[in-house]
Amino acid sequence: MKKRVVIIGAGHGGVQAASTLREDGFEGEIVLISDESDAPYQKPPLSKGYLQGKQTAQAILFRSANYYNDNEIDLQLGVRVNHIYTQENQIELSDGSKLDYDYLIVATGACNRKLLFHGKIAEKIYYLRNFTDAKVIEEKINPARHIVIIGGGFIGLELAALAIEKEKKVTVIETEDRLMKRVLPEALSKVFYDTHKAHGVEMLLGVSVVDVIDGKTIKLNDGKTLETDLVLAGIGVIVETELTENSDISFDDGIVVNGFQQSNIPNVYAIGDCANHYNPFAKKSLRLESVQNAVDQAKVAASHIMGKPIEYNTVPWFWTNQYHLKLQMAGISFGFEEAIIRQSPKPDRFSVYYFRKEKLIAVDSLNRPADHLNARKLLAAGISPTKQQVEDFDFKLNSLLID
Ligand code: APR
Repeated sequence: MKKRVVIIGAGHGGVQAASTLREDGFEGEIVLISDESDAPYQKPPLSKGYLQGKQTAQAILFRSANYYNDNEIDLQLGVRVNHIYTQENQIELSDGSKLDYDYLIVATGACNRKLLFHGKIAEKIYYLRNFTDAKVIEEKINPARHIVIIGGGFIGLELAALAIEKEKKVTVIETEDRLMKRVLPEALSKVFYDTHKAHGVEMLLGVSVVDVIDGKTIKLNDGKTLETDLVLAGIGVIVETELTENSDISFDDGIVVNGFQQSNIPNVYAIGDCANHYNPFAKKSLRLESVQNAVDQAKVAASHIMGKPIEYNTVPWFWTNQYHLKLQMAGISFGFEEAIIRQSPKPDRFSVYYFRKEKLIAVDSLNRPADHLNARKLLAAGISPTKQQVEDFDFKLNSLLID
């Protein structure tokens, strides 16, 4: 009997899992289910090339139209999975039908956290997560003159930069006292703040929104009111609990998985943003919100299904592009004790090396792609430069990689 793998979610993780299984010789059935009606596409370009008008919808597709057929991947679009019956090895689809699986891979990602005022989700605030959102924002942005963006994180700031390129008046409202505080140290927050200010973005830091009325009037906790044409928001993501709620799959801010992406139910795997895993680099359990992680974990789950398990152990990395700033992050700086800056002779080109005890745990590189690539190799190999070597710009850190 041929085995069947069902993959829920056709984002970076889901598509990669299907492809890797086929490439590795899986001979059974692969069913790839997506509740979106669009053919599977890449997410990072949505807040970058696509909304900038530099990449078309076609250009951001993962695969050509016939790839799925050619590889016998049964891609089911516009279908939602309502429930997982782990005892029966079955899922229930939005049309009420049931589908059996031998292995299930949950790759459902995360969804936008929404702003609540007076206990209700505020209307006429637009968030960016998927292609449908991008099309809505594209349509709304063009006629708007003044755009208010709530949240000074990755998404909010990428949207701010592209709205400035479109010559809009832009205001960013961030509750914290500095930008991207969740992941960045002060030195980097400052560069982004200065750059956005230099491009004319009005920055309101340490301010909360208490109400948004009709997507036009924004009331702040300092008593001020802003009038605008369009409100966008990027205030973080959460993992939906709907799918696992009434099942016996362990959930704790994501589906809890082991080093092979298996949940407590051995033939149910979770990968990508929705997987709460023990991260060997962070030395704690967490979820990672990144394309690269979804892809890596897809390969881990596929390898386990194929009976040639490779345990998850890949250096996490992330990036954001805003104006001329390209920030690349390798490793996880959480819990660092010391941050050392390696400054190149040029402004806006430096890397921050994070140490816990004497060990290098993460590196953030601003317009220093070579530092980023070296950092990934150093972290993967567990090699730590000394702090003096990091500070000495003439010392070639990649020399540490040569035996
Ligand atoms: N008002 C203003 N700012 C807020 C509010 C609020 N009510 N709530 C949260 N914020 C701020 C946070 O302090 C943070 O700086 O919003 C920002 C959200 O930033 P991120 O956590 O980076 O989340 P977001 O930008 O939504 O991106 C979500 O998508 O592409 C991925 O990698 C990206 O992990 C990121 C995810």
